[in-house]
Amino acid sequence: MLEARGLTKCYAGIPAVDNVSFSIRPGEILGYLGPNGSGKSTTVKMITGLLEPTRGEVLLHGQSIKNDLMAYKKRLGYVPEEALLYPYLSGWEYLEFVGTLRGMERPCLKVRIDSMLHLLSLYPHRHAPISAYSKGMRQRILLIAALMDDPEILVFDEPLSGLDVTSALLFRKLVKQLGQRGKIIFYCSHVLEVVEKVCTHLLILRQGKLIAYESVNGLQKITGLPSLEDSFSHFVEEKDAEVLVGDIVEAMRA
Ligand SMILES: Nc1ncnc2c1ncn2[C@@H]1O[C@H](COP(=O)(O)OP(=O)(O)O)[C@@H](O)[C@H]1O
Ligand SMILES: [Mg+2]
Repeated sequence: MLEARGLTKCYAGIPAVDNVSFSIRPGEILGYLGPNGSGKSTTVKMITGLLEPTRGEVLLHGQSIKNDLMAYKKRLGYVPEEALLYPYLSGWEYLEFVGTLRGMERPCLKVRIDSMLHLLSLYPHRHAPISAYSKGMRQRILLIAALMDDPEILVFDEPLSGLDVTSALLFRKLVKQLGQRGKIIFYCSHVLEVVEKVCTHLLILRQGKLIAYESVNGLQKITGLPSLEDSFSHFVEEKDAEVLVGDIVEAMRA
């Protein structure tokens, strides 16, 4: 089980993430939702061991990840929000580099890279430099990099950004199946529809604070609203969207 206990991160004394706790069991997919700037990526950086929390801790199977961060990272696949890839490497070279860093056995590495490049329609482009890839192609390379070592834990930070409709659909089905196979999955997004279809649990964040944390069915029950979108607006929106849109249109003419 992956567990966050009282996770807090302050920047210049101001909390970006404020006392957030959750746990994800194998087979569970936690949708981590919130508007822009609510602290999702900051949480992701703490649970991937990239950022030290100001307070609180992250535990895997009861052990603080700080005890052996290298071993923890080996069990983790992570698709970051921004694709910081090496532009001069080809897709194939980048994946080879990642696999080598992860200590994957060479024959297995080659087979996995080739088959995943095929499956994600990148094989014909494997020798082109990453700088020539579209955003969606880079996103698919990051996805392969996260999956190819078959990690126990998967962390996705806005994984659909830049993906076309077909790839996005494929990705959704993939996440669902990975959950069914017992992976621990943390799925961070501001797009509700996707999370609703895929996740088993939802956590909603607003200004760094946890405002709702429930199973997908439970969340709808407590708000009494029929759709998840209504539940989400109920928690997150300060102002009714209709009113806000009206105000924007007014402001354009003012
Ligand atoms: N390195 C940083 N230094 C200072 N403030 C930061 C830093 N990273 C994020 N923040 C602030 O923390 C808040 C949460 O950011 P972030 O976690 O990226 O939100 P989200 O991913 O939900 O959009 C924002 O107000 C952001 O400006
Ligand atoms: Mg973010």
